[in-house]
Amino acid sequence: MRVLVLGSGGREHALAWAIGRSPRVEEVLCAPGSDGIRADARVLPVDPGDADAVVALARRESVELVVVGPEAPLVQGVADRLEAAGVPVFGPSAEAARLEGSKAFAKSFMNRHRIPTAAHRVFDAPEAAERYVEERNGPLVVKADGLAGGKGVSVCRDVDEAKRAIHEAMREQRFGQAGKQVVIEERLEGEEASYYAISDGRHFVCLAAAQDHKRALDGDEGENTGGMGAYSPTPVVDAALERKIVERIVRPTLTGMRSEGRPYRGVLYVGLMIVDGDPYVIEFNVRFGDPETQPLLFRLESDLVPLLEAAARASLGSEGEAQLRFGDPAVCVVLTSAGYPRGFATGFVIEGLEAHASAPDVKIFHAGTRFESGSWRTAGGRVLGVTARGSTLAAARQRAYEVTRSIRFKGVHVRTDIARRAQGSDA
Ligand code: AMP
Ligand code: GLY
Repeated sequence: MRVLVLGSGGREHALAWAIGRSPRVEEVLCAPGSDGIRADARVLPVDPGDADAVVALARRESVELVVVGPEAPLVQGVADRLEAAGVPVFGPSAEAARLEGSKAFAKSFMNRHRIPTAAHRVFDAPEAAERYVEERNGPLVVKADGLAGGKGVSVCRDVDEAKRAIHEAMREQRFGQAGKQVVIEERLEGEEASYYAISDGRHFVCLAAAQDHKRALDGDEGENTGGMGAYSPTPVVDAALERKIVERIVRPTLTGMRSEGRPYRGVLYVGLMIVDGDPYVIEFNVRFGDPETQPLLFRLESDLVPLLEAAARASLGSEGEAQLRFGDPAVCVVLTSAGYPRGFATGFVIEGLEAHASAPDVKIFHAGTRFESGSWRTAGGRVLGVTARGSTLAAARQRAYEVTRSIRFKGVHVRTDIARRAQGSDA
């Protein structure tokens, strides 16, 4: 079969690579893809945000499954359009994608279904929001309601920081329309983890847990980013906690979405804070995480495609019994441009990529690169995801950093502490 992946980042590169390994797949297409993804898919210049063009492409190329990488096209309804055109699609409808598209919706949904999450308030005017943070006078989290590329959340220590976040979102409109409303919630303290389940609207299969590092700087300092690195599995999620996550969060979410008439089909990504052994939702995403998907899929030993297909065709009941098999731990270190997640320059030559092309335990996923005049150049905030496997998390981590150190471009920034805590030492 022919599978079309929509998107162009490191996550889509990992998806294209994993899908291409399936014996069921003749060809992987990726739109718009990137020069880096070209190594693992035929890349086509179609905008995933243009549903007409995506449907036309799927028909023209006889695509039998579309896998949607990013959230924006889902929130805009690309899955609805493909489904209406009779093309099986892995990814939720626009109605179901509101779980990510509106944080205010997600919070009220969780309250309706008694899914554990931080207490919150929603504001559509900055004055009221500012009054509220003054009253609360403590650590709070200010979130733009809509999509902001993972950058719309400010974890604030005090009133001044919260006011600055409100100012940026609501008065300066740093996130455009996405910041017209803000959600202000209680700041939870604990360990973060992400959990993934694939659902066809009725049944679900759990994937492995992963953990990403969202802050730009070592020690979880600096601003929130799309993600600076990730690893899987994460020792934070043991069997007992996994049961709580499934029974208190995953199952009621999927049941709730179905009972509200918006069955959830696709991958449900639950961002969690573990507080005193109990899981709380800090966000839902309606697609695979980036960069978490890079280590997650690099570990996967079984074929991902039957599962994606069963979810798309609402036939997970039988297929779902075949659990996915995951191998050795994997760690992904993201190399970013200087200045990310704020402004950054691009076009710098990247050196050292070729040396690792055939290493079996390393895969370099391209997030923001282009190939020009015979060399690789930077073309985005997140540039590369160096992903390595090892017999232990520590070994995977060491290998990922060894390769990371051998790749150079002007202004390259990496966190040096990805997966450090998880490996159980400060090495
Ligand atoms: P989100 O995009 O909602 O996942 O938020 C990005 C990051 O902000 C999360 O990964 C957490 O590190 C942090 N965060 C979000 N909500 C909270 C909260 N209620 N308490 C503490 N940290 C939070
Ligand atoms: N790594 C965070 C995200 O994909 O939203």
